[in-house]
Amino acid sequence: MLENKKILLIVAGGIAAVKVPDLIRRLRERGASVTCILTNGGSQFITPLTLASLSGNMAYQDLFSLTEESEMGHIRLCREADIILVAPATADVMAKMTVGIADDLATTVLLASDKPVIIAPSMNVMMWTHPATQTNLQTLKTREVQVIGPGTGDLACGEIGDGRMAEVSDIIATLSRHFQKSRGDGPLKGCRAVVTSGPTHEPIDPVRYITNRSSGKQGHAIATALANFGASVTLVTGPTSEPNPDGTKVVNVQTAAQMMKACGEALPAEILVCAAAVADWSVAGQTGQKIKKGVKAPALKLAENPDILATFSKPGPGRPTLVVGFAAETENLITNAQLKRASKNCDWIVANDVSVGSSVFSGDSNTVHLVTADGVESWPTMSKSAVAERIAERIVKFANKNL
Ligand code: CTP
Repeated sequence: MLENKKILLIVAGGIAAVKVPDLIRRLRERGASVTCILTNGGSQFITPLTLASLSGNMAYQDLFSLTEESEMGHIRLCREADIILVAPATADVMAKMTVGIADDLATTVLLASDKPVIIAPSMNVMMWTHPATQTNLQTLKTREVQVIGPGTGDLACGEIGDGRMAEVSDIIATLSRHFQKSRGDGPLKGCRAVVTSGPTHEPIDPVRYITNRSSGKQGHAIATALANFGASVTLVTGPTSEPNPDGTKVVNVQTAAQMMKACGEALPAEILVCAAAVADWSVAGQTGQKIKKGVKAPALKLAENPDILATFSKPGPGRPTLVVGFAAETENLITNAQLKRASKNCDWIVANDVSVGSSVFSGDSNTVHLVTADGVESWPTMSKSAVAERIAERIVKFANKNL
């Protein structure tokens, strides 16, 4: 998505500027060209020489430099770019963007530009939550400035809260999505995908149920990423608080049996991704009445649920060309994932460690291993949307060869 895209990267004065070298490297790896503008504040954290060496282009700083201005440098810079990315975006830059102050090269370019702008804010939590910054944020959003992050965590100032610049992988994913959307179609156009997501709820009686800790974040992010690549996506989801992904058909279910039925109705499709944490058991012999408290605690009789992944992976006519399952493991991650891939007959398994402390279920990031017939690839820890983006990119590659 980023091949041949021209990115004008404005680096403002925040400690997150130290992430910029990695950002530039990864943008260039994806075929984008990067030109940097450094604010005075930014130059306290990173040098123009570093930015120029990594980007392969001059790093601009001075609004009134003769060499640069002989060609109306600031106008040329914004006209040539496909997009302007401000990372890190400080409270100061956001405030200047809001009121239209143009007192240095970065803010002049932002004011003179008609190009899409993405900002990755980074600042102290009090600065971020201050009504001034929040009002500026709302104003910028109404002008269609896209905002990535900030994330929550330990801040460089020693405080904890919102204010960390978004991860580089998230910034890349947002840029890719932007260019994907502006293309209007995508490499998976014409391809049908069914994605399962979230937990299932298995009723014990009309008021109680068995479930698990799945949030649905990973499955929903995969549905989003596939839709962004132009696939026609049906998302079959158990109960979650995730918003419905744009551009997908969402089928809400409660139980494993309903999920199985909904998947059967959504298929055939070329791609099936089973990311749901389907409950393995449901409660047998329900009476439809609330179980009353008695002298003894009731013994629940469990019945095995249908295995959706294994069912639709079975070889035969109508099998999706690519079936991707997940493996949630607390021990022997890779070995168990390989065994699952074989026993369920699916093509790929995305394995993740769900032990206590891994915070996969509740968190926004994931560390996964992609298990295929060719071997195992271990991916670094990334946000769930970046994992989804990468899985979707792999599906595009697969589709180019096989569909
Ligand atoms: N899965 C499914 N239907 C089920 C159970 C699991 O479709 N009834 C799918 C999940 O969506 C996931 C894969 O199977 O893609 C593996 O799920 P996981 O919970 O890791 O394993 P289980 O098959 O449930 O086996 P175990 O709990 O013994 O690890």
